[in-house]
Amino acid sequence: MRLVRISTLISIFLLSRQENLLNRECGLSTLGVHMHVLNPFHFGVVVSGNDFCNREEEIEELQQDIKNHQNNIIYSPRRYGKTSLIYEVFRRLSGEKQIQTIYVNIYSILSETDFVELYHRALFKSLTKTPRTVMEQIGRYLKSIRPKITVNPDGTYDVGIEYMPEITAAVEDIMAVPLRYAEETGKSVVIAFDEFQQIARIQNFVLEKKIRNIIQEQSDKIAYIFLGSKRHVMEEMFSNPNRPFYRAGKQMPLKKIDRKQMILFIIEKFLETGKRISNNLAEDIIGLADNHPYYIQHLSHIIWDLAENEVHADMVQQALDYTLNRESVVFTEFWDRLSLNQRKVLVALNLKNKDEGIFSQAVSHRFKLPPVSSLQKSLKTLYGQELIEKVNGDYQITDVFFRLWIKRNYTINPPYYLT
Ligand SMILES: Nc1ncnc2c1ncn2[C@@H]1O[C@H](COP(=O)(O)OP(=O)(O)O)[C@@H](O)[C@H]1O
Ligand SMILES: [Mg+2]
Repeated sequence: MRLVRISTLISIFLLSRQENLLNRECGLSTLGVHMHVLNPFHFGVVVSGNDFCNREEEIEELQQDIKNHQNNIIYSPRRYGKTSLIYEVFRRLSGEKQIQTIYVNIYSILSETDFVELYHRALFKSLTKTPRTVMEQIGRYLKSIRPKITVNPDGTYDVGIEYMPEITAAVEDIMAVPLRYAEETGKSVVIAFDEFQQIARIQNFVLEKKIRNIIQEQSDKIAYIFLGSKRHVMEEMFSNPNRPFYRAGKQMPLKKIDRKQMILFIIEKFLETGKRISNNLAEDIIGLADNHPYYIQHLSHIIWDLAENEVHADMVQQALDYTLNRESVVFTEFWDRLSLNQRKVLVALNLKNKDEGIFSQAVSHRFKLPPVSSLQKSLKTLYGQELIEKVNGDYQITDVFFRLWIKRNYTINPPYYLT
C-alpha cells in the first residue's frame, strides 16, 4: 500500500516536472525567445555533479574509508566510471577543510622518472595556489628535488623539475611530501593514483617495492586509492602474495550502475532538457548498452540529438545504426588482424546462449570451434589484449558496440563455418 502510494507520488512528481519543463519550453518559444539547450549526455569525459548517476553506496563507503585512512583498490573494465567516481567523491569532500585530496593520473608514464615528474606536478598543483606559495612550500616539503616554475602569459603556471637526484632518493623525497604536508597542517590527505597498473608495465620497475614500503609507513596518516582498468594486471599486483602490493588495501571491484537508477537518470535528463522518453525506450537503451554507463551515455547522446520532443522507437534503432556504421572502419580493421580461431571464438561468445559454456560440446559444434587447447590459447590472447573480459565466470566481449557490430554482421550474414 505504502509502496503504491510512493510510486504514484513519484510518477505524479515526474509528470508535473515534465509538464513544467515542456510548458517552459513552449512558453519561451511562443515569446520568440530561442533557448539553446545543451545535450545532457556526456561520454568519453569525466562526469560529476549533476551529470553523475547514483553510486551512492560506493561514494559513502569511500568517504568513510578516506576518513579512516583506509587504502582502497578500485578496478573494473575500462569506462565503467572509476575516474568519474573519484572526481565525484573528491568534489563532495571539497567542502571539508580538514581533508586534502590529490588526484594523479599516471597513464602516460614510460619510466620511473616520469612517475616522479607527474606526481610532483600533481602534488604541487593540488597543495598550492600560486607560484609564490609553491616556492614557499617546496623548501618545507622537498629535501633533494629542486623544482622549476614557469608562469604562463595568462597567469597560470607549470611546475617542473630542475634537478632530480638518483631515482630511489627522488622517489623517497616525492613520496614523503603528503606526509610532511599532513604533519604540518594537521589535515588528512587522500591520494588517488589513476591507471595505477602502468607501474607494472614499466620494464624493470624496481620501485614497486620501495613505493609500497613508503605507503605502508604512512598508513595511519594518509589514505591511498589505486584505480586501474587492466583488470588482470591490477588483480595480479594486489592479490599475488609475491608482489609488493599484495594486500595493500581493500579491494573494491566496481560494478555497473544500478539499472533502475540508470533508467531514472535517462528519463530525468530528457525531461530536464524539455524532451520525453518512455520508460520502455529507456530500458531498451540500457539493454542495448548492456547497462554499461559509457555506452548508455553514447547512445542517449545521439538519440537526444535525433529527438525533437518525444523519443520514438525508430530513433533508438537509427542511433544504433549510425554508431555502428561510424565505428565500422575501426572494427573491420580490428577484425582483419584477428586469426580465424579468434574470430570464431568472438562470434561464439557473442551468439551463444547465456547459459551455455564456451567449452560445451553444443557450442563447439555449432560454431566449429577449434580443439580445447587452441580454444584456450585464443581465449588467453583475447583476454590479454582486453578484447574479452570475465564476468561471473564467463567470457564476454569488452566493447559493447563491437559486440553489436559482430552480431549485426554475423546474424544477417553467417560466415561459411556457421552455416
Ligand atoms: N556515475 C555515472 N553516471 C553517468 N555516467 C557515467 C557514470 N560513470 C561513468 N559514466 C559514463 O562512462 C564514461 C566513462 O567514465 P570514466 O569515469 O572515464 O570511466 P573509467 O575511469 O572507469 O574508464 C563517462 O564518460 C560517462 O559517459
Ligand atoms: Mg579512468
